[in-house]
Amino acid sequence: MTHPNHLFTPLDLRSIRTRNRIFVSPMCQYSSTDGHATDWHLVHLGSYATGGAGLVVSEATAVAPEGRISYADLGIWDNGHVDGLRRITSFLTEHGAVPAIQLAHAGRKAATAPPWLGAKSLNAPGRTWEPVSATDRPFSEKSPAPRRLTTEEAAAVATQFADAAGRAADAGFRAVEIHAAHGYLLHQFLSPLTNDRDDRYGGDFDGRIRLLMETIVAIREMVGEDTPVMVRISATDWHPDGWTALDSVELARRMREAGVDFVDCSSGGIVPGVRIPMGAGYQTALASQVREGAGIATGAVGLITTPEQADQIIRSGQADAVLLGREMLRDPHWAQRAAKALDREVPSPSQYERAW
Ligand SMILES: Cc1cc2nc3c(=O)[nH]c(=O)nc-3n(C[C@H](O)[C@H](O)[C@H](O)COP(=O)(O)O)c2cc1C
Repeated sequence: MTHPNHLFTPLDLRSIRTRNRIFVSPMCQYSSTDGHATDWHLVHLGSYATGGAGLVVSEATAVAPEGRISYADLGIWDNGHVDGLRRITSFLTEHGAVPAIQLAHAGRKAATAPPWLGAKSLNAPGRTWEPVSATDRPFSEKSPAPRRLTTEEAAAVATQFADAAGRAADAGFRAVEIHAAHGYLLHQFLSPLTNDRDDRYGGDFDGRIRLLMETIVAIREMVGEDTPVMVRISATDWHPDGWTALDSVELARRMREAGVDFVDCSSGGIVPGVRIPMGAGYQTALASQVREGAGIATGAVGLITTPEQADQIIRSGQADAVLLGREMLRDPHWAQRAAKALDREVPSPSQYERAW
């Protein structure tokens, strides 16, 4: 069946309209001190707005200091973070991209070093700390053992996310993405591979999804009805005893009922040593299954690199938007090149028009 939409059809999510369906996938930059945004973030994220993307998702932005993947992560646990972020959102908005923020807590995968600095850089004070998790089991033999959150502490995580969402709105972000994927804290609660709790946040499917559902409700209450709430999930753990695509469909159905607008379908990351069938568009079928099964807008992500491939995903109704990561790092003007290749009007700032 041919769908009426293509890569350059605007997408409406609550009060926002994206100029096309090209979203920039969240990507950690490890370029902050004490969580503050820097000139790097302005230029990095800003280049995607001048490059024509429809929506730009900030990197995993920590809702609590102990929830940072590394000491150099972006953060939004303090009101002092807001001004630095506002500079970025106003630039993105001025250049036609919707600014979105990924709110994150790394759980037991916290307290690492930026990948290019190696573990040695953890030796300085304040650069490492005790991670927390659903469990007290570490991610791998090399990872620090986390402290298991008490029931009260787990409940408080939802409030940390909601408070962060309030600050994000103050900072000018017009959409919020909850990071519940890649083996980070909320995923540690979702997956039977990491949730070994016997309180209300563990046990069966309802128990394991409870913290994410409470987080969604708290965020919706904080941001009101106009702001789209997106959730990134690992739609499968790629593990026989793990979270499955069918679990994702059921979760997405419940999230839709709770007021989530968009499910960003990634995969993996919960335990090491899993075989992931990587290849062009390797996660797109998951976005399609969740979209079809739960009747909710989805994003496809993972090795989407060519305009024709991206356009086809939208045209065939497999997803409502595509998220590009590494291809955007290689070419922040990818959306403009795609428009040119697909014979659409190029979303270009006046300053760059002569290029097209
Ligand atoms: C440098 C880098 C940093 C990343 N940081 C994040 C992140 O902060 N949050 C997240 O959900 N995914 C993160 N990812 C994963 C990407 O968002 C994306 O899902 C993944 O790279 C697959 O898409 P791609 O093939 O288009 O790169 C990161 C990927 C890269 C390459």
